[in-house]
Amino acid sequence: MTYEYRILEAAEVAAHLRERGYWGTGAVDVAEVSDGNLNRVFVATRRDDGRSVAVKQALPWVRVAGPSWPMSPTRAAAEARAYRRVTAVAPETVPALHDYDAQNFALIMEDLSDLRVLRGVLNEGGGYGGASTAVGVFVARLSFATSDFGLSSAERKALLAESVNPELCKITEDLVLAEPYLEHEHNHWHEGVADLVAAYRADTALRTEIADLRHTFMAGAQALLHGDLHTGSIMVGVRDGAEVIRIFDPEFSFVGPIGFDLGLYWGNTIAAEARAHALGRSIEPGAELARSWHAFESEFRRLWPDRLDTFFDDAYLDRFLRRVWSDALGYAGAEIIRRIIGFAHLSDLDTLPDPVAASRRALTAGRELILRRTTLADPEAVGELLTATGTPAVIAGRRQDNSVEGVRQRR
Ligand SMILES: Nc1ncnc2c1ncn2[C@@H]1O[C@H](COP(=O)(O)OP(=O)(O)OP(=O)(O)O)[C@@H](O)[C@H]1O
Ligand SMILES: [Mg+2]
Repeated sequence: MTYEYRILEAAEVAAHLRERGYWGTGAVDVAEVSDGNLNRVFVATRRDDGRSVAVKQALPWVRVAGPSWPMSPTRAAAEARAYRRVTAVAPETVPALHDYDAQNFALIMEDLSDLRVLRGVLNEGGGYGGASTAVGVFVARLSFATSDFGLSSAERKALLAESVNPELCKITEDLVLAEPYLEHEHNHWHEGVADLVAAYRADTALRTEIADLRHTFMAGAQALLHGDLHTGSIMVGVRDGAEVIRIFDPEFSFVGPIGFDLGLYWGNTIAAEARAHALGRSIEPGAELARSWHAFESEFRRLWPDRLDTFFDDAYLDRFLRRVWSDALGYAGAEIIRRIIGFAHLSDLDTLPDPVAASRRALTAGRELILRRTTLADPEAVGELLTATGTPAVIAGRRQDNSVEGVRQRR
């Protein structure tokens, strides 16, 4: 399918804002701030009073690749849809969406330039503040409101129909939930983990669990998800003395398994812990996972009495939450593994002076989380697992010779 629409250049953003009824005729300064792979982002600032907004537009291709890699711009509609649904139940957790231009696949939203991406803060040794709690509340409110507990049966079917996001789901199905376990040109890894890559590919038990997680991702249409909720999709900062947290970039949004959003976030917090550990910073393994799970669970339980369909009783709630928990652990493990041996890696690990020990630690934890996801009882058990996978016997915490020759000798 070809898409004909106006692709905005910086010089056209002020006119776009006026056309959309946003701001009048005053002078506006525009700067392009795109640094992601897929889309263009501009920040527009009024010269008279300094008020500003961000304009994000999806191109009919991958921004950094150009027209040779086409991609449907309808991902912007998925982003706008997710923002609207979250705004109805947890407005403080996302940027305010001022406008969505469906013809031109462009959003006008709150300017977040004064905030910082959480991953960058963590990489520099900063803390999470309330980010994990915000993630738990975000997932609980969005998922309850868009599940069969929060919507009537007919509304749910309409949501399912309007929220299909096939192209972006396929990226996750391939990059996260298949390719790392296959020989694929996308995969790459540090030679110091080559033995684990080979072992994971030959690991039939792991393969079956990934197949299960992949199928649940494809077929487990529980609620509307963010779809890409990692530490690079969260901005943090302070405004007027109060902490501000904004979860952004929900273009992968679709109706899927609730545990996927939590798990993606957990995988990234575990990678951040592996970095912190490697740099000798003190860490409490699994602390952020625990925080976001507790926030999610308590908020979901708080909402439960409002469910529309009371055939779902309290005993079912316990079973349901148990399933979300084990799914989330599995997706956390899959996210860790794909971020070390798959297509897209993490600055958390890549920028370490020696990424090998931390990567091995995280890869080992990832596999364990996947295989043991139905028997790990609670966040405390996960904390113990993460502590155990950090022991020298498993991660080879000693300095290793990671030259090609050194790796060959170890094999
Ligand atoms: N509302 C906003 N206000 C200010 N800056 C923003 C805003 N939204 C995005 N940005 C900037 O643009 C960058 C890219 O944004 P975003 O991640 O939404 O784009 P993307 O193309 O979807 O990225 P990705 O390839 O990671 O999916 C952010 O890292 C941030 O620097
Ligand atoms: Mg994006």
